[in-house]
Amino acid sequence: MSNQKHDAKKRKLLKLIGGIVIVGGALATWLGLERLQSNRTSSITRNGATPSEKGIFLPLPRFASGVMLEEAIAWRRSIREYKDEPITIENLSMLLWAAQGLTEFKYGFRSAPSAGGTYPLEVYVSISGKGVLVNGAEYLPSGSYKYYGFDHSIKLIKSGDVREDLAKASLNQEWVRKAPVSLVVFAVYERTMKVYGQRGEKYVHMEDGHVGQNIYLMATALNLGAVVIGAFHDEQVKDTMGVEENEQPLYVIPVGVSKEPYRITEEDLAEHFKKVRSLE
Ligand SMILES: Cc1cc2nc3c(=O)[nH]c(=O)nc-3n(C[C@H](O)[C@H](O)[C@H](O)COP(=O)(O)O)c2cc1C
Repeated sequence: MSNQKHDAKKRKLLKLIGGIVIVGGALATWLGLERLQSNRTSSITRNGATPSEKGIFLPLPRFASGVMLEEAIAWRRSIREYKDEPITIENLSMLLWAAQGLTEFKYGFRSAPSAGGTYPLEVYVSISGKGVLVNGAEYLPSGSYKYYGFDHSIKLIKSGDVREDLAKASLNQEWVRKAPVSLVVFAVYERTMKVYGQRGEKYVHMEDGHVGQNIYLMATALNLGAVVIGAFHDEQVKDTMGVEENEQPLYVIPVGVSKEPYRITEEDLAEHFKKVRSLE
């Protein structure tokens, strides 16, 4: 009897150790890959694709919106109507930094998470004529620009206002035609899929969601309005923005000064939940 008890105890212990080994192994594999990828990415970041070749250095990121995270989450809305006004270069800087800016320097980690630190996303911005105000008096030249997180800069890819073509490529969605800027997120699928195979495709789309939400929240914190757009013709968006052949469009995100910012308070939420909880 006591031998049986002893054997059962032993089996339980072995099972537990087995579980720890499996979970630990999976974790170690992930972390190992993470480290490997991070090192690889940080060297790419320093030496390869990311440096801007000295485009336009954006104003440095500031932690100054004064909007709490809870407010940004509560006030985020898809905004499709904008004032006929430019956004400032300071605000453009914050939007791009929120999208893919650096937040760590040893491994080159960014504002949005990335599977294994493979960083498949590239961010471009369409700037319309008089769309981005500099020093209260001048405007950035219109065109399609690419964002470089490495030194927080943008580089002109295609000169001239591409807004009309981008609106046409986006099934004539009027908010693309009217917004002073549109951020456009592209994916280089191979970066993630060569590490994770077919599953990497999912990871790229998950990452695009993170970037979209970061842009929404930053826009809200800056009193700007944005909407993520998934309905567009891929090839037309690529041609319009002048991107590389292997960069595939995932989101077009027009941003402007909100005509009507959305606001809801803690009290509004409390009142609503009290009401629904008191229903039969
Ligand atoms: C993947 C995706 C694609 C979307 N595509 C479009 C689009 O093409 N045009 C548009 O006006 N809104 C688009 N939206 C925004 C949704 O219409 C919006 O999120 C929804 O109406 C909920 O409103 P809210 O964002 O204010 O909460 C898209 C949203 C997501 C997540």
